[in-house]
Amino acid sequence: MQKKGVYGSQGRAPSRPPCEGLCRGCRAEGCVRREPAERCFRIRGGRPLSGKVKVHGAKNSVLPVLAASVLCGGPVHLARVPRLSDTGVSLRILESLGCVTALSEDEAVVDPSSLTGSRIPDRLVREMRSSSVFLGSVAARTGEAYLCLPGGCELGARPIDLHLMGLRALGMTVEEKGEKLHAFHHGLHGADITLPFPSVGATENILMAAVLAKGRTVLRGAAREPEIADLCRFLRRCGAEIVGEGGPVLYIDGVKALSGCSFAVMGDRIEAATLFCAAAVTGGELEAEGFSPSDLAAVLGVLKKMGAELKIYRDRVRLKAPPRLCSPGRVDTAPFPGFPTDVQPVLSAAAALAEGRTVITENIFDSRFKHLSQLREMGADVRCTGRTATIDGVERLYGRTLRALDLRGGAALVTAALAAEGESHIYGLAHIERGYERLEETLSQLGAEIGRV
Ligand code: UD1
Repeated sequence: MQKKGVYGSQGRAPSRPPCEGLCRGCRAEGCVRREPAERCFRIRGGRPLSGKVKVHGAKNSVLPVLAASVLCGGPVHLARVPRLSDTGVSLRILESLGCVTALSEDEAVVDPSSLTGSRIPDRLVREMRSSSVFLGSVAARTGEAYLCLPGGCELGARPIDLHLMGLRALGMTVEEKGEKLHAFHHGLHGADITLPFPSVGATENILMAAVLAKGRTVLRGAAREPEIADLCRFLRRCGAEIVGEGGPVLYIDGVKALSGCSFAVMGDRIEAATLFCAAAVTGGELEAEGFSPSDLAAVLGVLKKMGAELKIYRDRVRLKAPPRLCSPGRVDTAPFPGFPTDVQPVLSAAAALAEGRTVITENIFDSRFKHLSQLREMGADVRCTGRTATIDGVERLYGRTLRALDLRGGAALVTAALAAEGESHIYGLAHIERGYERLEETLSQLGAEIGRV
């Protein structure tokens, strides 16, 4: 039978049972749900996380690499692409600009030769706030880019003044009207740029514009994150001339054009850190491979202080948890090689059960402690003053129904639920799916009792 409208030939919604308050956006008591009930993770805590796992490709690398693919003259073949909702948004942005894309298993192909557009659609920017990473590459390739900034995000203010300062130094004109940006140029040139803070996003945007600029760019105070080095490797594979990645000064000699290439995305050190924290707090024994342990030195150092036994190999680490973790003392987040802000939430979940007092200072984002009040609902002894959290380890956490409010905060709730007594229901999976591929499958393969209901 031919389908007529969303409700079929009768033109009216079939009757459904009341939503019990779980339908998204439902406010009214007894409302008949318009959307399927929201799914959640159901986790029965208390099972040690043990076994071997290979981490997926890194979210923080694949997104800038996809943005950089618009600079290429031919197809880009990417391997080890994580299946994340943010990867999907990036591919949709590329398609909206006229690129041809394909995704199968963990491989993606982007053919930017048919790219004509320069407007990054507002609705996609709203879905992925880090879309600003397309600004430098699209403008460098087409001569202009339109981007609507959605303002602050769940982590607090997300200014891009440093991105714009760098792009302007390269010869870009950037007009700002409220939240709308129009960047354009009539030829980019190399420049000597100093970043007062090693911003990851600004470094990426400047790099992408500088590789096609005329002459040499020296970028001082650049971010040193391993994902920046991965972006440099990708760009070099396409013909860019860049030296200095991993250090604070990048030297970029502009070239006339870039070619396509084949490239495998680096392993996700943040996924590895999340799994190690979960194994450590559940008393497990975990071997994670497929990432570079030196990229995770700060996190491994903290886990060691907490009593975990570590065996570190070239591309894998084996962690054996002690019967009970102890506090690592003080932990301050900082740009690489410091303790990563992305690992702070899951570390605080582990610290909630560690013996002694942990003091964590979040130095990168001004609103990255939202998960703490939820940990408190689970029984954690946590206080927060400004950017500093004081956590006194308790002996037990208790399963609760909670909602993830951001990506890594969601991972923290899952970590705590894995170690808690009883059952937890974690909603807000859309946040978690932005950065973890099939997290529940990975965790259940490691022995956790977790399902999606
Ligand atoms: C940041 C993290 C990165 C992490 C990512 C996702 C750092 C240094 N960066 O990258 O590791 O993977 O979030 O969680 O840890 N800022 C400005 N002006 C700018 C740009 C940034 O003031 O133009 C400030 C922000 O307000 C914030 C900090 O710099 O305090 C964030 O640094 P940045 O590295 O730019 O953020 P992301 O690129 O999102």
